[in-house]
Amino acid sequence: MSETAPALYGDPLSSPAVFHAPLHSASMDAEWWRSSVIYQVYPRSFRDSNGDGTGDLPGITAELGRLAELNIDAVWLSPFYPSPHHDGGYDVADYCDVDPLFGTLADFDTLMARAHHLGIRIIVDLVPNHCSSDHALFQAALAAPKGSAERSMFIFSDGSGADGSEPPNNWQSHFGGRAWTRTTNADGTPGQWYLHLFDSTQPDFNWDNPAVRAEFERVLRFWLDRGVGGFRVDVAHALIKAEGLPDWGGRADGGSSEGFPGSEAPMFGQQEVHAIYRRWRGILAEYDGERILCAEASIDPLPRLTDWVRPDEMHQAFNFAYLHHPWNAHALRDVISSSLTAFDAVDAPTTWVLSNHDVVRHTSRFGLTGGAPRGGDGIGRSDAQPDTATGLARARAASLAMFALPGGIYLYQGEELGLPDHTAMPEDARRDPTFVRTGGERLGRDGCRVPLPWLADAPLYGFGATGDDTNAVPQPWLPQPEGWAGYARDVQSGDPDSTLSLYRTALQLRRDLQLGAGSLSWSREFETTDTVAFLNGEVLVVLNMGEFATPLPTGNVIVASTPGAVEDQTLQPDACVWLMHAAG
Ligand code: NOJ
Repeated sequence: MSETAPALYGDPLSSPAVFHAPLHSASMDAEWWRSSVIYQVYPRSFRDSNGDGTGDLPGITAELGRLAELNIDAVWLSPFYPSPHHDGGYDVADYCDVDPLFGTLADFDTLMARAHHLGIRIIVDLVPNHCSSDHALFQAALAAPKGSAERSMFIFSDGSGADGSEPPNNWQSHFGGRAWTRTTNADGTPGQWYLHLFDSTQPDFNWDNPAVRAEFERVLRFWLDRGVGGFRVDVAHALIKAEGLPDWGGRADGGSSEGFPGSEAPMFGQQEVHAIYRRWRGILAEYDGERILCAEASIDPLPRLTDWVRPDEMHQAFNFAYLHHPWNAHALRDVISSSLTAFDAVDAPTTWVLSNHDVVRHTSRFGLTGGAPRGGDGIGRSDAQPDTATGLARARAASLAMFALPGGIYLYQGEELGLPDHTAMPEDARRDPTFVRTGGERLGRDGCRVPLPWLADAPLYGFGATGDDTNAVPQPWLPQPEGWAGYARDVQSGDPDSTLSLYRTALQLRRDLQLGAGSLSWSREFETTDTVAFLNGEVLVVLNMGEFATPLPTGNVIVASTPGAVEDQTLQPDACVWLMHAAG
């Protein structure tokens, strides 16, 4: 094996990018976000252009052409801002710059220019609930006295108990442990406590303070002025906390638990938060080109989530109810129906997503035939391992069915390669604060964040360039599993039966047949206990989630999830097909 990575597409990382004519103009249409396909890039693990073991912005720019081939409308970039990376960059130390690990603002502008040329919008991740404890505003707050303007940017409080040594309330961190940390005064005595719904290095902002609102409006305009297509808004339901910060007996994520309906969680879903997004929508409307807001709001049930996408608020919200559906036809039909009903009621598009950087990839989830991953996310070396072949077949089938649904689609980098999680990652390689804060009891999300494989026969599967002088292979920030050569993009690119080819073909058809802007009707005729069957225009989609082959109607096969999916007019288990349906 040569020590330097062989060139895949004419040495994409070092030669000037080949510029094509814009591939399409559809994404520039009015209300493009109602039927969009948005691809999530996790920069740290996408592609490493300088051989330091971490992905970066030039690596993304070099490969944007590959993403354009997937017929996507936009790329959502997970955080690339300066950060100590205690929570994978969701601990932001400066909202208006690029972490040197990922490049510079000039690199961001180059990425934007390349994306614009390809007709791809760039959505950036906005993290307004909390920042990093390294942020200048928090450092100023720590240095300032109790009751100061600096402290009022965050949620500081005296402790409870006679000497204030107990936290102000009983809230728990989403990552485990309590949601409060006590400060130390300049003279070494114990001081006030500050709230952090996530890691102790992620202090929550005080959104009751107009100065916080003004600061984030500045941040919005900074990126809007640079041309971004919009924002994915992190924990969008958490900004406002109930007055008086009352104790809470429910789950840390605000979900319901016995005796405590989720709707009552004092740290999530407070009505006052909506005024913030109405204001932001107004700011976006000052800019040309239909910039969007997408809510990451873990709110259930669905009709409550749709409050975030009322006509004057956000454009889209992630559909986590859909993401968490089990491999079960009844459950899937149910969540599709209830999603469309709920979002239609507020005239918002429904979104669909199967994987992201916070969950076990759907290839691995659906391969766990014994049930879902253990609570607290992640699959580890001592857990039951997913069945790789079953997981991949089901993942391809589930993705193909999803691509025929009307509304917006979110993809997570690597799912187009059929990547599974790294389920055998050594414990000492894990970085997720969930793992750290729970002493390893919860594994966390590292398994789905592993650097991507680009080249089957290169060190690190071509994830990173090797250093110019030494040709030394860098250590990637997270280890890749062995045996990933077959997933590499170069081998899949030329194989018509690969997962990558399936994604390209199906997403092209979705665009050509305008399925995203279509509508769904259930096909009771072809439905069984174990199959999901629906029509979108003239396309009949059948997904077999059972153990036995199921009969198909006559009709031309448009695309099938695997080469052997359709045999003798039947659809095999764990497979999906689109048929051109003859009306009548
Ligand atoms: C949701 C993000 O997707 C996740 O990665 C992060 O840890 C939390 N929000 C906190 O910012």
